[in-house]
Amino acid sequence: MTDTTAAPAPHTPATALLLGATGLVGGHVLDLLLADPAYTRVTVLGRRPVARMHPKLDQRTADFERLREDHAISFAVDDVFCCLGTTIKAAGSQEAFRRVDHDYVVSAARAAAEHGARRYLLVSAAGASARSRIFYNRVKGEAEDAVRAQPLDGVVILRPSLLMGERAETRTGEQIAQRIMPALDWMMVGPLRRYRPIEAATVARAMVRLAKEKTRGVRVLESDEIQQTGGA
Ligand SMILES: NC(=O)c1ccc[n+]([C@@H]2O[C@H](COP(=O)([O-])OP(=O)(O)OC[C@H]3O[C@@H](n4cnc5c(N)ncnc54)[C@H](OP(=O)(O)O)[C@@H]3O)[C@@H](O)[C@H]2O)c1
Repeated sequence: MTDTTAAPAPHTPATALLLGATGLVGGHVLDLLLADPAYTRVTVLGRRPVARMHPKLDQRTADFERLREDHAISFAVDDVFCCLGTTIKAAGSQEAFRRVDHDYVVSAARAAAEHGARRYLLVSAAGASARSRIFYNRVKGEAEDAVRAQPLDGVVILRPSLLMGERAETRTGEQIAQRIMPALDWMMVGPLRRYRPIEAATVARAMVRLAKEKTRGVRVLESDEIQQTGGA
């Protein structure tokens, strides 16, 4: 007779590197990783520190222009979580936006592949496509393509729709959308389901779950799939 009461096999302890921990999604990912016994060490690389102390947390500040030169060793982990991003308004120009949402994202994926990380999990955006006529979507799509070309065991790309959650900073357009879009949820059925707003915490849960499943190959999740995978 099969013993169905047997405890599940414990996860092999894993190490993580998180980029973007001071952000909305990254903050949730950090909370999850620190609370999860499957991760024994969580390294955070950012241009400024996060206001957290934890025995598993290893904080490092970085000049992202020199990520691969100065921080190679930080990428020798199991899972790299990339929650980096900015807006054209915050960055100041399209070029400056591209530097973060493409160049830093890709340079981190290269460093991950060069230094033996197994998986790279990236928060991209709904509509990302290298062939898009919309600049934002094109940059996101080009970043995705460059990341998925890296020789890693697993690449997970999450394409959330509008993110819901509390931000320290004010983003007027986003705040208006956060109020309007949920009221339109009922209209977003069938293929439109992927444009429903999504909680940043749900995106973070999906990311960590997929890392722990030890996803292999390239997996791209649209927002409705993130919702299913990261549901509470
Ligand atoms: N907002 C939305 O509705 C939405 C929708 C779909 C997809 N996304 C995408 O989802 C991802 C996560 O979004 P989010 O809202 O969680 O992002 P966020 O709150 O704006 O956080 C972005 C992170 O990137 C870091 N960062 C920005 N510019 C940097 C620079 N020049 N050098 C180093 N680090 C830098 C930030 O660090 P600092 O704290 O130091 O600035 C922060 O840790 C982004 O790629 C975003 O484009 C967003």
